[in-house]
Amino acid sequence: MAQTSNTTVHLLSTSIGRKVLMALSGLFLITFLPVHLAGNLLLFKSDGGAAFNAYSQFMSTSLLIRILEVTLVVGFLVHIIDGIILTRRNKAARPIGYSGGKSYVTSFFSRSMAATGLIILIYLVIHINSYTLKHRIYEPGNLAFYETVKESFETGWAGFYPWFYVLAMLLISIHLNHGFQSAFQSLGLNHKKYTPWIKKLGLLYSIVIPLGFAAIPIFFQLKYFNII
Ligand code: HEM
Repeated sequence: MAQTSNTTVHLLSTSIGRKVLMALSGLFLITFLPVHLAGNLLLFKSDGGAAFNAYSQFMSTSLLIRILEVTLVVGFLVHIIDGIILTRRNKAARPIGYSGGKSYVTSFFSRSMAATGLIILIYLVIHINSYTLKHRIYEPGNLAFYETVKESFETGWAGFYPWFYVLAMLLISIHLNHGFQSAFQSLGLNHKKYTPWIKKLGLLYSIVIPLGFAAIPIFFQLKYFNII
């Protein structure tokens, strides 16, 4: 038993082990985004926010969702900490890059993983502060999530907040584009027949999901300026 846990600890301390953990946590986060987007699409309903508020209230009070949230936080922490460790190791062992060191000429998407990851982290801190912390810590009992989202995407940061979101979604798209296929590679799932399809699926995912999120602040801006 002690032997097995020693072997696991040893494996995790190697770059291969860390890459596998990075891939697994990344794939877990990839499953979270479509679920989060599906809920957020309720913001498009022209019901004054009734459906979105009912959904958000369920999300912020259900015990099951609380348990899933802890898993989500762990997933993010593992991904972020592993990302920092791998980036530092890769820098120390230059010129081998995050893509696994197959080529010195790594793609733009591969080289930008650490930079886009860092900006996404900053985005997440701002995002959770604006919504989750506002409703749970600063204003407990305030369950009007729709009004918060609406206000932030209409006049937040003097009109800059919605465009900050659009920019963040562009960076998330770049991050996902490489991350999706790279996760399968790190897990050793390379196949002559399936890898091109995984790449295509990754490309589709990295366009459709961020576009869906970006459509929300754009929608509120268009409505605010009476364009739609
Ligand atoms: C227009 C885009 C988005 C909107 C309107 C939105 C809305 C929200 C709202 C209202 C909450 C609070 C839920 C609660 O506390 O119960 C929330 C939480 C959260 N969002 Fe977003 N979100 C968007 C995009 C994103 C993106 C792109 C990510 C990931 C990169 C993300 C990750 C999270 C996380 C991790 C939480 C905290 C988890 C939780 O409280 O359940 N969101 N979001």
